[in-house]
Amino acid sequence: MCPLSQSAASPGQGNLCFLLGFLLIMSSSLSGAQPPPFKQFAPTESGLTHLAIHNKTGEVYVGAVNWIFKLSSNLTKLRNHMTGPVVDNEKCYPPPSVQSCPHDLAQTPNVNKLLLIDYDQNRLIACGSTSQGICQFLRLDDLFKLGEPHHRKEHYLSSVAESGTMSGVIISSPHSTTSKLFIGTPIDGKSEYFPTLSSRKLMENEENADMFSFVYQDEFVSSQLKIPSDTLSKFPAFDIYYVYSFSSEQFVYYLTMQLDTQLTSPDASGEQFFTSKIVRLCVDDPKFYSYVEFPIGCTKDGVEYRLVQDAFLAQPGRQLAKSLGISENEDILFTVFSQGQKNRAKPPKESALCLFTLRRIKEKIKERIQSCYKGDGKLSLPWLLNKELACINSPLQIDDNFCGQDFNQPLGGTSTIEGIPLFIDKDDGMTSVAAYDYHGNTVAFVGTRNGKLKK
Ligand SMILES: *[C@@H]1O[C@H](CO)[C@@H](O)[C@H](O)[C@H]1NC(C)=O
Ligand SMILES: *[C@@H]1O[C@H](CO)[C@@H](O)[C@H](O)[C@H]1NC(C)=O
Repeated sequence: MCPLSQSAASPGQGNLCFLLGFLLIMSSSLSGAQPPPFKQFAPTESGLTHLAIHNKTGEVYVGAVNWIFKLSSNLTKLRNHMTGPVVDNEKCYPPPSVQSCPHDLAQTPNVNKLLLIDYDQNRLIACGSTSQGICQFLRLDDLFKLGEPHHRKEHYLSSVAESGTMSGVIISSPHSTTSKLFIGTPIDGKSEYFPTLSSRKLMENEENADMFSFVYQDEFVSSQLKIPSDTLSKFPAFDIYYVYSFSSEQFVYYLTMQLDTQLTSPDASGEQFFTSKIVRLCVDDPKFYSYVEFPIGCTKDGVEYRLVQDAFLAQPGRQLAKSLGISENEDILFTVFSQGQKNRAKPPKESALCLFTLRRIKEKIKERIQSCYKGDGKLSLPWLLNKELACINSPLQIDDNFCGQDFNQPLGGTSTIEGIPLFIDKDDGMTSVAAYDYHGNTVAFVGTRNGKLKK
């Protein structure tokens, strides 16, 4: 699927081609030698969806339809592991392996939807699209299957087969063998089964009954966010697509795309509009009181770019840090947006590469929380609250480390966080981005829908 003549690639495939190309360019430029001819990894069954690179060995793990691959850092295939097709029906909940299903079962392709390296336990977490989104644990070394928990409802993470819509972050705990897995996923209208955002226990033993259970749960609160049924009855198409996620300092962030409920008419007669958001939670906030979301986008020459396609967390090289007025170990975020707010599934090819500093994002969020705790304005989160609740005045001091209270939450931003536009492309449709530091200079690469790589 990676040849440059690639034609009808899905956005997910474009990303992957691009990243594999990027790796090779990086290794050749670092060694200073003549670049070798483009090496390809092109399995006959197409449909590569995800990629994870081991930060020590440089080995590459690739998620695909029905397969997981392990490649060496020079893209030689070392191992593969088959994950499908699976006898399944997407309407069966719970999956047929647990309870008989009234619908016809058929061989169903298993699309890899999430691929994460769990460094603490030396294993890969690979979640698929079949059986309502169950996950396999594979040994990093040889892709041996260590377990595939599927007995409890917490093991089913998502029923949506579209790749590039679910995202996860692993947070390891310094004093415990239990890590946390933050998961964001679309729910395809099934809010009774799937939270759109949650934090789960990641147990050392794959067979442990607590695997993927919520980090916290009592009668009233738990480590999860559900899309309210009121929102779904007003906007049946409402969903949240999680495009990118990362952790920075004590926070987990998500970049999402969701239906814009202000611009889209509820009766579904007119056109649908989408908006991109940056979502933030404190890592150590099991009750999700720290939930904040802000519209995010980029504007150049009066044209708005509001459909997030991909992002990449990096640190600036010496030159870029200097020009941004930040230090070299502060986080920055490269982000690709498509123009406008229409057509999530087929975004316009006019696209922008933009830059955000985490410093600026944190500042905007802190200002918003501070003003809400002074009693100014409303919580402004219509899709989640379905009504306007006023901010409550409180004498609390809000600093950078504030992680929420049981009031004045969840909180929505009212103004868009705007990035710095770096590059506009009107022809090729940028879909992916990566960047690295080369002798003090920051080099950004973008991949396009038709398989081009731009530096
Ligand atoms: C690799 O990533 C893990 C998890 O983020 C981190 O704990 C570890 O220090 C990293 N190792 C290297 C060599 O960067
Ligand atoms: C690529 O990696 C494999 C496995 O590590 C190694 O055996 C092979 O020699 C490498 N090939 C090249 C051209 O470097």
